[in-house]
Amino acid sequence: MNKLRSDSSAAPASARISLQGVSKRFAGPSGQGAGHLVLDQVSLSLAAGEFVCLLGPSGCGKSTVLNLLSGFERADQGRVQLDGRPITGPGAERGMVFQQPTLFPWLSVADNVAFGPRMAGWPRDRLQAETRRLLAQVGLADFGAHFPWQLSGGMRQRAALARAWILQPEILLMDEPFGALDAQTRLAMQELLTRIWQQERTTVLFVTHDVDEALFLADRVLIMSTRPGRIEEDLAVPFERPRTFEDLVAEPDYGRLKRRILKALRHGEAGAAPRDADTEAQPLPRAA
Ligand SMILES: Nc1ncnc2c1ncn2[C@@H]1O[C@H](COP(=O)(O)OP(=O)(O)O)[C@@H](O)[C@H]1O
Ligand SMILES: [Mg+2]
Repeated sequence: MNKLRSDSSAAPASARISLQGVSKRFAGPSGQGAGHLVLDQVSLSLAAGEFVCLLGPSGCGKSTVLNLLSGFERADQGRVQLDGRPITGPGAERGMVFQQPTLFPWLSVADNVAFGPRMAGWPRDRLQAETRRLLAQVGLADFGAHFPWQLSGGMRQRAALARAWILQPEILLMDEPFGALDAQTRLAMQELLTRIWQQERTTVLFVTHDVDEALFLADRVLIMSTRPGRIEEDLAVPFERPRTFEDLVAEPDYGRLKRRILKALRHGEAGAAPRDADTEAQPLPRAA
């Protein structure tokens, strides 16, 4: 069952990014004592171009996994690697998108999107052309001169996406980026993200606690348990692309997969709650 949990050996050769046997402990509020174990022997890897969702209850360590891969945090134990080499800090090949769009309030939308490339010293022509292209891609062509406070939440998140995307990161680490959006805007953002991902073939690790979101977006879903965070399940999502929610919910496997994930989440939260025999018996796809 928990194949990945016990497997802390080398990541597959095809891995672009990986955690191998990673443990992470955080000190308590006073900084005293041994602290608490947040991640316990977590192993996961993403192949180039893969879209993987990391699903788990609040506080299970999802953001910590992203922070390790982005290079903001260091593991206490185990290996965190990019193309087989240790990750020691942030890098331009890895882009981050957070739950709250982190735009500079004093810059226009276009200047926010252009900020990274400007820092990287792009020539003016390329900077302007790419900013225009990205704003159009996320449906903000007419809003470049607006300021973030003049946009809706969904528009701000689209601007944040454009800002991450303009640098053409090979790997995108996304931390519940659509969690604060209303259902309809979220759906539009999910469609936009899969469309851009299919064009650019970026490798995406997308954190969410929403099962439907994971099934719509992912090639593979990793389910985390909590206290300490572990990978409970690694499930392939077999649905063809491009996907629409209307088609997905009509798939017989959709309900079965969703049910299985919900049970794994409940199991991960409750600790040792027994699993239901009938979902265990289903021949659902499992990632290798
Ligand atoms: N920098 C930190 N210092 C101390 N504790 C932290 C820190 N970051 C996260 N934690 C703790 O680690 C646990 C997992 O946090 P996090 O990775 O943010 O979970 P998730 O993203 O799944 O909600 C939580 O108990 C949180 O309080
Ligand atoms: Mg988090």
